Amino acid sequence: MATLKEKRTCGQRCEDFGRFVWNSDTGALFGRTPEKWVYISLYYVAFYVIMTGLFSLAIWTLMYTLDPYTPDYQDRLTSPGVMVWPPTYIEEDVVLSYNMSDKASQMKMSNCLSNFLKPYNDTAQQSNCNCTRGEYFKQEKFEAPHHTKHSCRFTQSMLARCSGLDDPTFGYNGTTPCVIIKMNRIINFLPNNGTGMAPHLNCTILSGHDNIDMIEYFPTNGTFDLSYFPYYGKLAQPTYVNPLVAVKFHLVKEREAKIQCRVVAHNIAYQDSYEPYQGKVVFLLQALK
Ligand SMILES: *[C@@H]1O[C@H](CO)[C@@H](O)[C@H](O)[C@H]1NC(C)=O
Ligand SMILES: *[C@@H]1O[C@H](CO)[C@@H](O)[C@H](O)[C@H]1NC(C)=O
Ligand SMILES: *[C@@H]1O[C@H](CO)[C@@H](O)[C@H](O)[C@H]1NC(C)=O
Ligand SMILES: *[C@@H]1O[C@H](CO)[C@@H](O)[C@H](O)[C@H]1NC(C)=O
Ligand SMILES: *[C@@H]1O[C@H](CO)[C@@H](O)[C@H](O)[C@H]1NC(C)=O
Ligand SMILES: *[C@@H]1O[C@H](CO)[C@@H](O)[C@H](O)[C@H]1NC(C)=O
Ligand SMILES: *[C@@H]1O[C@H](CO)[C@@H](O)[C@H](O)[C@H]1NC(C)=O
Repeated sequence: MATLKEKRTCGQRCEDFGRFVWNSDTGALFGRTPEKWVYISLYYVAFYVIMTGLFSLAIWTLMYTLDPYTPDYQDRLTSPGVMVWPPTYIEEDVVLSYNMSDKASQMKMSNCLSNFLKPYNDTAQQSNCNCTRGEYFKQEKFEAPHHTKHSCRFTQSMLARCSGLDDPTFGYNGTTPCVIIKMNRIINFLPNNGTGMAPHLNCTILSGHDNIDMIEYFPTNGTFDLSYFPYYGKLAQPTYVNPLVAVKFHLVKEREAKIQCRVVAHNIAYQDSYEPYQGKVVFLLQALK
C-alpha cells in the first residue's frame, strides 16, 4: 500500500525552511557551509574576471590593428568614376534633354545644378583652406581642429560663367547649357603621381560635330587642381569637397550631340567596357525648342 505523503502543517513548513536557511546541525547556510560558499564565490569571481579579460583583450587587439582613418578594405576601384550633372538617366544612357522655350524645363535643369552646388557656396567654403595651387596637399599630421586634416576650398564662383551666379539658368534658357563633371573620390589616390601634372577634363564630340560650335571649360583648361589630392577619408577630412569642372557647350543647328568627357591622367583608366563610368562619362545633349 502506497504511503500517502503526510500532510504537513504550516508550522512544519516554516521550520523546514528555517532549517534550509540555517542548519545548526551541519552549520550550512542556504544548503552550503560558509566554507563552500567562499569557494563557490571565488570560483565565479575568477570565472568572470577571466572572461572579461579575454573579451577585453580581443576587443583591444581588434582596435589596435584597425586605424579608423584608413579603411582596411579599399574596394577594388583604383581608378575614379566620373559623373555628370544634371544626372538624367534614360535606361542605360545619360540624356540631357531640355526644352529651352519651356520655363519648367529650364528650372528643372538649373535647380538641379544649384542644389548640387550648395556645398560649394562661397560662404560655406569660407572655413576651408586657400591652398597652394599646382601641388599635392599632403598632410602627415592631423593639424586641423578636432584631430582632422585640412581641406581645400572649392567655391561655386570658380566655375565662373557656369557658376549660376551671373546666370541662374546656367544657360538652359538658350543654347549654351552648362554641365558639371565630378570625379569620385578615392582615398590616397594621386592622379598623375610623380609627374606634377594636374588631371584635366577633355570633352570630345562622338556624333553631331556640326552641332557644337564651341566648348568652354571652367576652371580654365578643365583642370582638377592637384591641391585637392590626396583625399584622406571622411573621418580625417570632414569638410572635403570634390573639385569640379563645368563645361559650357555652344549648340548650333540641330542642337544635339553625343559627347564624351574624360578625365585625362596617366593613372586613370577609361577603356574598361564593364565600368562605363570609369574615368569618363558619355551623354547625349539635346536642346529642344
Ligand atoms: C517646348 O516648350 C514650348 C513652350 O512650352 C512648347 O510649345 C513646345 O511644344 C515644347 N517643345 C517640345 C519639343 O516639347
Ligand atoms: C550662400 O549661402 C548664404 C548663407 O546660407 C546665402 O545667403 C547665399 O545666398 C548663398 N549664396 C549662393 C550663391 O547661393
Ligand atoms: C587665396 O590666395 C590667393 C593667392 O595665394 C589670393 O590671391 C586670394 O586673395 C586668397 N583668397 C582668400 C579668400 O584668402
Ligand atoms: C538667359 O538668362 C540670362 C540671365 O538671366 C540672360 O543674360 C540671357 O540673355 C538669357 N538668354 C536667353 C537666350 O534668353
Ligand atoms: C608616387 O610617387 C612617389 C614618388 O615619386 C612614389 O614613392 C610612390 O610609390 C608613387 N605611388 C604610386 C602609387 O605610384
Ligand atoms: C582631347 O582629346 C582629343 C582626342 O584624344 C585630342 O585630340 C585633343 O588634343 C585633346 N584635347 C585636350 C585639350 O587635351
Ligand atoms: C592652360 O593651358 C595652356 C596651354 O597648355 C597654358 O599655357 C596655360 O597656362 C593654362 N592655364 C591655366 C590657368 O592653367
